[in-house]
Amino acid sequence: MSDIQVIKCKAAIIWEAGKMPSVEEVEVAPPKSQEVRVKIVATSICRTDDNVLKGIFPHLEYPIIGGHEAAGIVESVGPGVTCVKPGDEVIPLCVPQCGECACCLSPKANCCLKSHIYKPLQNLMPDKTSRFTCRGKQIHHFLWISTFSEYTVVPVVSIAKISNDAPLDKVCLFGCGFSTGYGAAINNAQVEPGSSCAIFGLGGVGLSVIMGCKTAGASRIIGIDTNKDKFAKARELGATECISPEDFEKPINEVLVEMTGLGVDYAFEVAGHVDTEATALASSHFGHGVCVLVGAPPTGSKLCIRPLQLLTGKKLIGSMIGGWKLKDALPKLVSDYMANKFNTDALISHVLPFEKIAEGFELLNSGKCIRCVLLF
Ligand code: APR
Ligand code: ZN
Ligand code: ZN
Repeated sequence: MSDIQVIKCKAAIIWEAGKMPSVEEVEVAPPKSQEVRVKIVATSICRTDDNVLKGIFPHLEYPIIGGHEAAGIVESVGPGVTCVKPGDEVIPLCVPQCGECACCLSPKANCCLKSHIYKPLQNLMPDKTSRFTCRGKQIHHFLWISTFSEYTVVPVVSIAKISNDAPLDKVCLFGCGFSTGYGAAINNAQVEPGSSCAIFGLGGVGLSVIMGCKTAGASRIIGIDTNKDKFAKARELGATECISPEDFEKPINEVLVEMTGLGVDYAFEVAGHVDTEATALASSHFGHGVCVLVGAPPTGSKLCIRPLQLLTGKKLIGSMIGGWKLKDALPKLVSDYMANKFNTDALISHVLPFEKIAEGFELLNSGKCIRCVLLF
């Protein structure tokens, strides 16, 4: 018999789509075989979490505990777990890496097939049961990691061990936002020195794209946002110019083509709207532009583009979690952070105690927040 017990702790539950999360006491079951129970130390709020709140992913079942950008410490492990042990510092993975499926084995892919993303889409644990209960009700998981809970259970494929000296209140951002944006520039686009880049949407993810473009040596980095309050931070992190579509009579793609001659070498959509996706493609270079879709539009939405743009040589590609195989990539990204290779602390605009999670969502929606880190 295992001596691992149920833990009672606080978690933020979204009882139904459209409702703010309420912080309540939940019971967190022990980890089953090939599962790990993690004490979350810090978790930040990403736009995707707000989308869960608003209910734009119709496949999700509620009540649900959201959250997917976090760092913590292993509390206990289920049978068969060898890659982590209690006391290890870890980052839960919003996209798993099983290491065995066709995509994990291919150097060209990073979306594991043993995941919640591959069919059927589901938001319980891999065995289709939940580890969370509250007031006698089963609560659904999110992306198999549900980090808006002081303790959470994750499958072993969804965890990366990082350096035990890593500051968890800072490296939580590597769980989604930073890795997503930075990797989109470095891995997916493979931005070249001297190139021109346009980034649509200057939230935490878009700013991380800027950091990637700068690291890659891009000479023109044009930030585009409807909210001009985002421009100062974008410039601080490497944008050479910032523009708002609302300041021009003509469509912003025409403005960008005029600014660059034939369009930008690399365009990134990081706002999560299909109309900005089409605009980003239209802004990219006539003969060899690469447009990378990074933002996540509502499930089921359709992108409408003129195919002739692709026939002339533009490429339209997508990026999931920056193209990283996260279990392999995160330890290195975190050690690069600790060696001061990136200034991800600049993305943290607010820090709040976990109980104030609703305030964190309000800050995100006010446009004043880049990343709000919640501390347990
Ligand atoms: N044109 C330009 N910028 C826009 C537009 C638009 N039409 N609409 C919104 N924006 C800007 C917002 O003002 C905001 O600054 O896009 C930015 C998006 O930032 P956040 O909401 O903070 O989102 P972030 O966490 O960066 O995530 C961006 O990536 O992971 C996905 O689901 C996530 O789709 C989201 C995207
Ligand atoms: Zn896999
Ligand atoms: Zn995210």
